[in-house]
Amino acid sequence: MIDYNVLRKTGAGIFKVLAKAKDLEQAGKKILHFEIGQPYENTPEHIKQAAKDALDENFTGYVESSGIHELKEAIRDEVQNTRGFKPSLNQVLILPGANSGVYYALRAVIDNTNQEIIYPNPGFPTYGSVVSYLNAGDKAVRIKEENEFRLNPIDLEDKITINTKVIILNSPQNPTGSVMKKQEIQRIAEFAEEHNFYILSDEIYSKMIYDEEFYSCSVRDECRERTLLLDGFSKSYSMTGWRLGWIIAPEKMIDRMNLLISIGVSCTSSFIQKAGTAALKGPQDSIHENMIEYRKRRETIVKGLNEVKGFSCLTPQGAFYVFPNIIKTGMTSQECADHLLNHGIACLPGTVFGSNGEGYLRFSYATSIETIKKGIKLIKNAFE
Ligand SMILES: Cc1ncc(COP(=O)(O)O)c(C=O)c1O
Repeated sequence: MIDYNVLRKTGAGIFKVLAKAKDLEQAGKKILHFEIGQPYENTPEHIKQAAKDALDENFTGYVESSGIHELKEAIRDEVQNTRGFKPSLNQVLILPGANSGVYYALRAVIDNTNQEIIYPNPGFPTYGSVVSYLNAGDKAVRIKEENEFRLNPIDLEDKITINTKVIILNSPQNPTGSVMKKQEIQRIAEFAEEHNFYILSDEIYSKMIYDEEFYSCSVRDECRERTLLLDGFSKSYSMTGWRLGWIIAPEKMIDRMNLLISIGVSCTSSFIQKAGTAALKGPQDSIHENMIEYRKRRETIVKGLNEVKGFSCLTPQGAFYVFPNIIKTGMTSQECADHLLNHGIACLPGTVFGSNGEGYLRFSYATSIETIKKGIKLIKNAFE
């Protein structure tokens, strides 16, 4: 039996903030938005042009459910350039967004309800929702501020049982912006090898990293045995609305996921895949330029939030989120987010990302530096 109320609860915090922000805006109040996890920049011109060209060439029919050949090849090259190994084309699957890949991957891996999924809490809300939707064993593992919000292998080891089937890793992480150390990821990969479970490595923010080195556990088995590497175009190429992602996995799992795609959506949109090919093969300057801007925004928001009474904020190493601790305000996360909304600031209570997000807020700084500066002033006023 699926408990739809559990699913509804997961998204409820986000929708509550969005609905209230909209009401306030309709009533004429100006709201500064820090709640949405999407880049503020536009999709680069050459990517848009590739989609327009594909439409003009009438590339508008159904395509292979697993994805078009040229995009799969581009992804294979991308994996070689960024992770150092070349998967076979049968290990590549194109997805209508990485979000759906979380479901496809876990659905493909989980065979029965005794099996358990370990995943980070706080973490990307889809993980917990899919675990509950599949009726799988829920083994959320707390990620702690003491460890700079990096998933600690020791905490994770406590959750491993004979029923563990898969662990979800996400580095750089949503909502905290933490980036795991190579040794931490390696230790977790060793657990997976020792106890024979899968790893779903959500690497959607892999190109959005500051001073740390990016490490992917996929290099260990080249996604031939136990690693499912999930990535996409939304964040690094500012393509959230295009709905395009990809996954590299053992062929058996690709086969299962491909079946689900063909039943559910038939295929990912044809002309969108042409745009994705242009994104990977074309100039990558926009990513480097954006990261220079994100670095400035990160400094401004972290410094500003640390000056707010009752707030303390670590410097994240990746993505475009900060996750300040607000315990000293004496408010719950929801109260604090509501209070800020009344002062013209929309952000998310940490609890949107799981129970261990209590005591925190999430701000997305994928916005202009002017908005960040104005926002900090309003937040300071709200807590004077
Ligand atoms: C950690 C994480 N994984 C996956 C996704 C989904 O990305 P997409 O837009 O490709 O569905 C997001 C989006 O916010 C995310 O934060």
